[in-house]
Amino acid sequence: MSELITVNIDGKQCEAVEGEYILNVARANDIFVPAICYLTRCSPTLACRLCLVESNGKQVYACNAKVKDGMEITTTTENITKERKAIMEVYDVNHPLQCGVCDQSGECELQNYTLYMGVDKQDYAVKDVDRPTSNWGVMSYDPGLCIVCEKCVTVCKDMIGSNALSTVKRGADALDKQYKANMPKDAYAMWNKLNKNLIGFEEENCIDCGECISVCPVGALASTDFKYTTNAWELEKIPASNPYSSDCSLLYYEVKHKSVEENQVKKIYRVTNDSHYTSLSGAARFGFDYHNEVDAKDELEFKNAVDKFKNANTITFNSYITNEEAYILQKMKDELDINLVNEDALNYQNFLKNYSSITGKSLYNGTLKDVHNSNFVISVGTYFKSDAPSVRFAFNNAISMNKGAGLYFHPLNDKSVERFGKKGKTIETIFHAPMAEEAILYFILDQFATNLPEQISSYLESFREKRVKDVTETIKETIVEMVKDEETGEEKEVKKVVPKKVTTQVEYTYTKLLDVIGSDESLLETIEAMLAKKDTFSLVVGEDLYSHPKAQNIAKICGLIEKYTQFKIVIIPSSTNTLGVSQICELSPELSGNIVGYNVDASYQISALGDGSLDMPSLNQQEGTFVNIDKRLVPTNAALPYAGYTLNDIANEIFNDKKENTIDYTSELFQKVAFDDLENSFNNSMEETRGYILDSKDVTWNEIVTKLSEDKIEGTIIYNANPINQFNEFTASSLNLSKEKTALYVSSSMLEKLELSENDTVNIKTSNGDINLNVQIDNLLDGDIAYVPTFDKTIDTKKLFAGYRFTNANIKKV
Ligand code: SF4
Ligand code: SF4
Ligand code: FES
Repeated sequence: MSELITVNIDGKQCEAVEGEYILNVARANDIFVPAICYLTRCSPTLACRLCLVESNGKQVYACNAKVKDGMEITTTTENITKERKAIMEVYDVNHPLQCGVCDQSGECELQNYTLYMGVDKQDYAVKDVDRPTSNWGVMSYDPGLCIVCEKCVTVCKDMIGSNALSTVKRGADALDKQYKANMPKDAYAMWNKLNKNLIGFEEENCIDCGECISVCPVGALASTDFKYTTNAWELEKIPASNPYSSDCSLLYYEVKHKSVEENQVKKIYRVTNDSHYTSLSGAARFGFDYHNEVDAKDELEFKNAVDKFKNANTITFNSYITNEEAYILQKMKDELDINLVNEDALNYQNFLKNYSSITGKSLYNGTLKDVHNSNFVISVGTYFKSDAPSVRFAFNNAISMNKGAGLYFHPLNDKSVERFGKKGKTIETIFHAPMAEEAILYFILDQFATNLPEQISSYLESFREKRVKDVTETIKETIVEMVKDEETGEEKEVKKVVPKKVTTQVEYTYTKLLDVIGSDESLLETIEAMLAKKDTFSLVVGEDLYSHPKAQNIAKICGLIEKYTQFKIVIIPSSTNTLGVSQICELSPELSGNIVGYNVDASYQISALGDGSLDMPSLNQQEGTFVNIDKRLVPTNAALPYAGYTLNDIANEIFNDKKENTIDYTSELFQKVAFDDLENSFNNSMEETRGYILDSKDVTWNEIVTKLSEDKIEGTIIYNANPINQFNEFTASSLNLSKEKTALYVSSSMLEKLELSENDTVNIKTSNGDINLNVQIDNLLDGDIAYVPTFDKTIDTKKLFAGYRFTNANIKKV
């Protein structure tokens, strides 16, 4: 545990955690230090040098110097002011005169600091070079505007894990020599570096998250769709929560009327975030354009819908709804005796119940922040290429920033994961056979647990055996050499220490669980090496496991890991509000009788997708709350108006207790706090003040687990994947988000093995169904498992799978 210390900044006594950067301590205490290039949660780039301060009489960079007890810090001195002003002058050299049309104008840090430092003349010059604009995936890069602060490079590496950006040579003339002699020292050093570089891009590694756009302090990186559409200062910022995945990250819908239409309805122009606190996935950032546009209330259909609900035996729905809506559905179940069916939330609910049956607590003990802060992190059951982006970011961030190490277990051989972390081997990827997840979790328990109940430790013991291995090490050996004295010609003995390789046999404990995982003793050695100086552990458990044929036992083993190891565990809710729904609704597996669907196909359907009999608002048209991955209830606000009926309107026709708005139910949820009393922000100390955290209740428990199953999936295997940046039918309806073709994706080696060519049409047949699809190569995929991604309602790839995301398939060219 780091110690609390006291430092003095500009005469103010500030409490701080030892080892924290001066800049963060200043910010937490409301003391302003100019800084352009520092990004909280990432490594300092030390590019701008604006954050110069004086600490105990010495000039240091506040974003890179750590506080020590009793430190005296001054944020402004005469010399520092001179340096900062020169830095801003240099940044303005050759900067194009296009503020009038630049997207960043009004929120540009170059504009702000130029004014703040009082730059009113230009003492510096260098010949400009041609710097043409490029289009990179979802964004465009204007190197003319780039100040090479490297924030984009840093966030892509330290947070996102893509490493798709780097500095490249600018090809400019060298700076005039006289500047080195006459300019303020730091300003010259900054300029000299800036003048040599620009930013380069590797498209194959980019996941189109747009986080680099978010961190860019100037207009150099901009969303191509947003560019030149509006002035930043005209936009109204509406705080909300990501409606597309269970991070439910704080985001802002930025809204204005449509510019050219007569009917001045509102439009979302962009989604932004404060990247010091949260990072957004591509779906959250760019998938804002879908909403359900409804002109008026359809009274006739509304009456019909009320009747359908009154006569329903089953309501089937998914987890893209608010807690308030889930609460209304549960009330309908209670009052009308209707079955509620939601496969995703039921799988998750069962998983959590089994988990809790071991831990004795209703919720898991970890949060995303724990993952960010850990230095040893394991992921099982998540395909990081397209599942749970915020967990991927936290996993990568932990390895990159905490001198951390990570183990990534997944059947799909995704080469992009190897880019996580810093240079050097800090991540071990274990691409195992499907169905081996149970053995993996037993293996983690075996390696890390202490004081396990006798029955479980003797079961794990049954897999162990003593083995010996050769260990070669280099020792220092003293040898004696005869050396001739050149003057006397006499020979004498001289002792010398030389390195010598010695091989010895050592005994070690092997576990046959490694055979089931498809690994060997080298994994034990890797883990041993990785564990040096590690003291904060987290395990993220993913979506593959909730529908696993052995989900019940897997959940229990995860519970044992929480109980008997130091790991903080996060059980990633598979959809936006899977956790909220699973805490509010009593769910059934069976569809029966009269079925009404909410956003799900049924004989009678109400839908926010515009494909039902009665329209409903989409999540960016509603106020309400979600329960996110951190077990936190967070509020979301409506960005766009909605003229039709809501689920609450239907409920008001059924219940005696009528509510004017859906959010009137918020105060009946969990901790009974009214919607208007929920905050949705972070403070300067990085503290999250969004909503509230759910209580983890005591539940009855026992420690009964079952033995390892020997079931396997053989033959050609396919995986039910999310498309990149897509999570549901709503993101699939977004025009902004690029669509992966619905196809069978294979590695080049698998394509060869199957004797197919790219673009062939194949018939894929499983025990559940069959479908014809086109074949595509995924260059970042290796190995023999193919995947099928889709949310295209016209292509039902889900019918190939019976719950578990892996199945064997017969693939034949058509
Ligand atoms: S593109 Fe933006 S964030 Fe990246 S180096 Fe240039 S100014 Fe900085
Ligand atoms: S969009 Fe995301 S992945 Fe692509 S370069 Fe930017 S930060 Fe990296
Ligand atoms: S913020 Fe410290 S060098 Fe830029």
